[in-house]
Amino acid sequence: MENNVNEQIMDKLTKVCLCKAIPRSKMKEAIANGAKTVEDVQKATGAGSGPCCGRRCTPKIQELLDKYANQ
Ligand code: FES
Repeated sequence: MENNVNEQIMDKLTKVCLCKAIPRSKMKEAIANGAKTVEDVQKATGAGSGPCCGRRCTPKIQELLDKYANQ
């Protein structure tokens, strides 16, 4: 998994789940730890349980899974 310093900083600053303020770094960590589905990532991070019920973060989590899972 390619990961330069800028990307690591952006991962910490970029909130994937806006309701719960969960950064992309947490999502990637969950994927690296074996999360394979949106539900896995949500369970591991707490994303998806905010007022929007995952409407805003689910597509972004799916995108990260497409990119980083199964590597
Ligand atoms: S953005 Fe994740 S639950 Fe609303």
